[in-house]
Amino acid sequence: KFEHLAQTPPMGWNSWNNFGCDVDEKLIKETADYMVSSGMKDAGYEYVNIDDCWHGERDANGFIQADPERFPSGIKALADYVHSKGLKFGIYSDAGWTTCGGKPGSRGYEFQDAQMYAKWGVDYLKYDWCATDGLKAEGAYQTMREAIHKAGRPMVFSICEWGDNQPWEWAKPIGHLWRTTGDIYNCFDCEYDHGTWSSWGVLQILDMQDDLRQYAGPGHWNDPDMMEVGNGMTEAEDRSHFSMWAMLAAPLIAGNDIRNMSEATRKILTNKAVIAVDQDELGVQGFKYSSKNGVEVWFKPLANDEWAMAVLNRNKGEVKFEFKWRNEVVKDELTHRTITFNEQKFDWQDLWNKSNKGHTKKFLKTKIAGHDTLMFRLTPAKN
Ligand code: GLA
Repeated sequence: KFEHLAQTPPMGWNSWNNFGCDVDEKLIKETADYMVSSGMKDAGYEYVNIDDCWHGERDANGFIQADPERFPSGIKALADYVHSKGLKFGIYSDAGWTTCGGKPGSRGYEFQDAQMYAKWGVDYLKYDWCATDGLKAEGAYQTMREAIHKAGRPMVFSICEWGDNQPWEWAKPIGHLWRTTGDIYNCFDCEYDHGTWSSWGVLQILDMQDDLRQYAGPGHWNDPDMMEVGNGMTEAEDRSHFSMWAMLAAPLIAGNDIRNMSEATRKILTNKAVIAVDQDELGVQGFKYSSKNGVEVWFKPLANDEWAMAVLNRNKGEVKFEFKWRNEVVKDELTHRTITFNEQKFDWQDLWNKSNKGHTKKFLKTKIAGHDTLMFRLTPAKN
């Protein structure tokens, strides 16, 4: 059922960040193959999603067709292939007259399109916001939501409206996730100016997530956009990106070429301990606890009185980091959970270097490389 989907943030892969409009059935099939053989499926990745530009023309009756050259076997056969690997299949459309890539949008064809997707076996729909002059966002997304319902196949509904109309305020009963910002760009700390619009580095997107955590929870997530892990940043930057997306309980949608990824990238994307923080059943988005000299400490409450903690070094150079646990009191305004480290003791495990373990009785004193992030899981100590 629609209502029961995305109880934890969706995980998968999407073609856009690395391939743009250069998509075809071979790419999607090979990606599904590698999702299994790379260990990503085993780590929890589930959806294989084609983004923009799969479209051909509408037929005489208005039904959308795939581009016959890029998808000669058709979308149904492709979805069947992805399903045969034990994975799920996603597609992309747009609430306006055209998609951002200039392909036919769903405006005026919502019910027909949803019917077609259901027939093809689509499990996930990302629904964009280009060419929507004069449309009201809430109404436009509501229409597609009803169309999906009517079509009768459960689909994760991903609202891609870029945050301009505050979707966090109205999208909870409509979709399972909503973009909170403009597009991500594969750099750690930059704004990329496209002339009439900008896309954003990892830190810039991260900084736009403040004040949104109250809106997220099981079945309805803030979406700070798909990942750029493996798309050209340094290993430390990729690690930080992945860590912070997990702290945000963000959807983990890989955006790299997983057929050709390095072992370092594969290890980041399949770190099950970090993924477990993202996928924690409590479904509470983490928050920034402190920020000093470009070093941020974040906490995320987890089920069973556990916590995740991340220490993000925004500086280019290495920094020393000290944390005197017993002086710290962490208050979560949202769940009203508090840690008074002076009274409550925790065992911690370093999630990027699992053999590194400790206890909050001791002082934490370490170094963090430029643009890198440390991540810990805190478990209440037995005595
Ligand atoms: C918009 C979206 C992107 C991507 C492109 C496709 O920019 O925000 O994520 O889907 O359109 O054209």
